[in-house]
Amino acid sequence: MKIAMLGAGNIGATLGKKWGAQGHEVTFGVRDVTAAKYEALLESMPGQVTIAPTVEAAAAADVIVLAIPGAALKETVAKLGATLAGKIIIDATNNISQADMGGIATITAAAPQAKLFRAFNTLGWENFETADLGGAQIDLFYCGEPVTDRETVDQLIADVGLRPIYIGGLDKAPVLDALTRLWFTLAYEQGYSRRLAFKMLTA
Ligand SMILES: NC(=O)c1ccc[n+]([C@@H]2O[C@H](COP(=O)([O-])OP(=O)(O)OC[C@H]3O[C@@H](n4cnc5c(N)ncnc54)[C@H](OP(=O)(O)O)[C@@H]3O)[C@@H](O)[C@H]2O)c1
Repeated sequence: MKIAMLGAGNIGATLGKKWGAQGHEVTFGVRDVTAAKYEALLESMPGQVTIAPTVEAAAAADVIVLAIPGAALKETVAKLGATLAGKIIIDATNNISQADMGGIATITAAAPQAKLFRAFNTLGWENFETADLGGAQIDLFYCGEPVTDRETVDQLIADVGLRPIYIGGLDKAPVLDALTRLWFTLAYEQGYSRRLAFKMLTA
């Protein structure tokens, strides 16, 4: 699958490396392709990932993953414009100071027909780098629509090593945001490690 990873920081580099290793064609979409900091990233995955300007990377992809600061989302989505149409978009951004922590409203305003999912926003990146804890596979809760594209997102989550758990359409985004707030509360107010994740148990 052709994936444009917009952002090459903690989340972008972690997911991009995992997917590149799984054989996906990953292109990091960044603001400055000449920045020295990306050399080490590309050298760590020779031949498995590439780098391109943001819009170019997005235009060539089937799946666009947003792994940039929440505050940068509006400007980036405006730049992408029609490039978003028809592609699967995975929003991993968080803007913890806002009630609506993700980019769903911004993205759907710019691209009403977007195939939009919200995933990889509820846990710290360390839990994507190593997707199990004490031998237990970490669960990743996510939402989005159309449900017909769920299989693709399930596969991408599984390719990271996580167990995908779909919780419904975009109306469930506040549920994910609440889970993110729970993660933040435990990690930053209750002294738990960032290697903290959630497991669903069912009968
Ligand atoms: N860190 C986590 O554990 C975690 C977990 C879940 C979700 N998230 C969310 O995922 C997103 C990325 O987090 P991160 O920890 O990966 O951040 P990060 O390490 O700071 O990386 C951010 C990336 O976004 C790019 N960027 C910064 N400002 C930008 C702008 N104005 N326009 C376009 N690109 C810009 C940076 O590229 P430049 O080199 O060009 O600045 C960098 O590649 C955030 O929304 C965060 O809330 C993070």
